[in-house]
Amino acid sequence: MRISFIGAGAMAQAITKHAVNAGHDVMISNSRGTETLRQQSKTLGCKAGTVEEVVAFGEIVFIAIPLAAYRSIPVAPLVDKIVVDLLNYFPHRDGHIPELEDGEITTSELVARHLPLARIVKAFNAITVEDLEKDARPASSPDRRALPICGDNTEAKKVMIDLMDQLGFDVVDGGLLQDSWKFERFRPAYCVPLNRIKLEKVLSRTLRETKVPDGYWLTPGSIPD
Ligand SMILES: NC(=O)c1ccc[n+]([C@@H]2O[C@H](COP(=O)([O-])OP(=O)(O)OC[C@H]3O[C@@H](n4cnc5c(N)ncnc54)[C@H](OP(=O)(O)O)[C@@H]3O)[C@@H](O)[C@H]2O)c1
Repeated sequence: MRISFIGAGAMAQAITKHAVNAGHDVMISNSRGTETLRQQSKTLGCKAGTVEEVVAFGEIVFIAIPLAAYRSIPVAPLVDKIVVDLLNYFPHRDGHIPELEDGEITTSELVARHLPLARIVKAFNAITVEDLEKDARPASSPDRRALPICGDNTEAKKVMIDLMDQLGFDVVDGGLLQDSWKFERFRPAYCVPLNRIKLEKVLSRTLRETKVPDGYWLTPGSIPD
């Protein structure tokens, strides 16, 4: 498939490595222009382009930028495209967004307001970039990690589940974009390595009032049975 990234930072690079290994055609972009990506794209074995070029190129377009920049994403070229939102909200970095701070909407719903006609899938937000690099496993590996996704479009989710399987991960469907708070920051499934059965269990037990401290995934024993 043609897979592209708005962004060329840590997350875009980690996913690009897996996608190129799986035989996909990848293009990355950043805010500073194609020239600044020449060496990086050569090392990764992918193409580099402008933001306009990557949104035109990708059958799946990842948004891999700080959440604060979401309004810069082009709207019209992403109509009907599968758009992957891997954003997390960090107020100190992204600024004060009351609806996110109050938990009234998910980060994906914020992105969906900006891209109402894109087929948005929330994915890859609940894993650290370090784990993303090292935890990919072939299908059927006994220690394969599962990642949660959400989305309002069933077909787009199917495509993503298949892609994530190729990239080395099992997937648990967490429901609609409005349900993706269950694996945003401060929730038990956020960045904790879990297999499919454990992840399903953790998501089903996560209620609105279920909160964990920042860095929970680093705490020994935080992984539930
Ligand atoms: N790092 C993690 O462990 C992790 C895990 C899960 C989810 N996430 C989320 O994934 C997103 C990306 O994280 P990251 O760690 O990859 O960040 P990063 O390493 O800081 O990279 C951000 C990239 O976005 C580009 N960028 C910024 N504004 C842009 C714009 N308006 N248009 C095009 N490109 C733009 C930057 O390019 P320039 O330098 O040219 O601006 C840079 O290539 C964030 O929302 C983060 O919260 C991160």
